[in-house]
Amino acid sequence: MSRYLDGMFSLTGKTALVTGGSSGIGYAIAEALGRAGARIIIVARRHPELATATAALHTHGVDATPISADLGDRDALTRLCEEAPTHYGDIDILVNDAANNIRRPMNDLTIHDYEQTIAVNLTAPYLLGQHFGPRMAQRGWGRIINIGSQQSISAFGDSGAYGIAKAALAGLTRSQAEAWSPHGVCANTLLPGFVLTPLTAAAQAVPGRTEQLAARSMTGRNALPADYAGAAVFLAGPASAYLTGQAICVDGGFSVH
Ligand SMILES: NC(=O)c1ccc[n+]([C@@H]2O[C@H](COP(=O)([O-])OP(=O)(O)OC[C@H]3O[C@@H](n4cnc5c(N)ncnc54)[C@H](OP(=O)(O)O)[C@@H]3O)[C@@H](O)[C@H]2O)c1
Repeated sequence: MSRYLDGMFSLTGKTALVTGGSSGIGYAIAEALGRAGARIIIVARRHPELATATAALHTHGVDATPISADLGDRDALTRLCEEAPTHYGDIDILVNDAANNIRRPMNDLTIHDYEQTIAVNLTAPYLLGQHFGPRMAQRGWGRIINIGSQQSISAFGDSGAYGIAKAALAGLTRSQAEAWSPHGVCANTLLPGFVLTPLTAAAQAVPGRTEQLAARSMTGRNALPADYAGAAVFLAGPASAYLTGQAICVDGGFSVH
C-alpha cells in the first residue's frame, strides 16, 4: 500500500522552489512538499521570517534553504535563478506563491500600485517560469504550480490590479502548459478561497467580514494554510501527470455557492 502511494505522491529526489515560502499558504506548501520528500528552497524578502520558516521546516526533517529576494526587482530575480540550483541541483517543482495585495478601489489605483502588482504577481512568475520551465522540459519532468485567487475567475472586493494579475496568471499557466506539457512538465493554477493569513489581515479586521465569508463557503468555514497541503503534493507529484493547464479551486465551495 505504501509503495503504491509513494508511486503516486512521493517527491523524494525532487527539488522545489517555493516563492512566498516564509508565510501562510506558501509555507504550508513548502512544508507539505518537503514532508513528501522534496528538498526545498523558500524565497521571500524578510530575513527573520525566512529563518523562522526554515527552522520550522528543519524540525520536520526537511532539507530547506532560504533565499532572500524581492521578486519585484529584476536583478534579484536573475540572482535567484542563478543561486537556486546551487543548493540541491536543478529545480523540478516551481511554486509561484508570493504576491502583494494592493486592493484600493479602482479609481484610486496609482500607476505605481499597478506596476508593483504586475511585477510581483505576474512578471515574476512569468520570468521564473521562463527560466526553469525549459530546463525542466529538457530533463523531461517538471511541475509548475501558480497560486491564483478567486480574482482569477471573478471580481471580488476591489479586485483592481490584483484581479488583473491573478486572471492573467491563469492565462500564463495555460501558456506554460501548452509549451512544456509535451515534455513532461505540467503547469496548473491553484485558486484558494478566503484564507486566514497575514495577507488578509485587513479584511479579517473588518467586524463580521470573516464570518460572512465563512458562511459563503459550502464548508461553512474559511480556509487555513494547511488546506493547501494535499492539493500541492498532488499537483507536484507523479499522480498529476495527466493534469495540466487547469485552474483548480480549493475554496470549500466558495466559487460555486
Ligand atoms: N490569503 C488568502 O485569502 C488568499 C486568497 C487567494 C489567493 N491567495 C494567494 O495566495 C498566495 C499566498 O498568500 P498568503 O495569504 O499565504 O500570503 P502571506 O501569508 O502574506 O505570504 C506572502 C508571502 O509572499 C512573500 N512576498 C510578498 N511580496 C514579495 C516580494 N516582493 N518578493 C518576495 N516575496 C514576497 C512574503 O514574504 P516577504 O513579505 O518577507 O517578502 C510571504 O512569504 C498569494 O499569491 C495570494 O495572492 C491568498
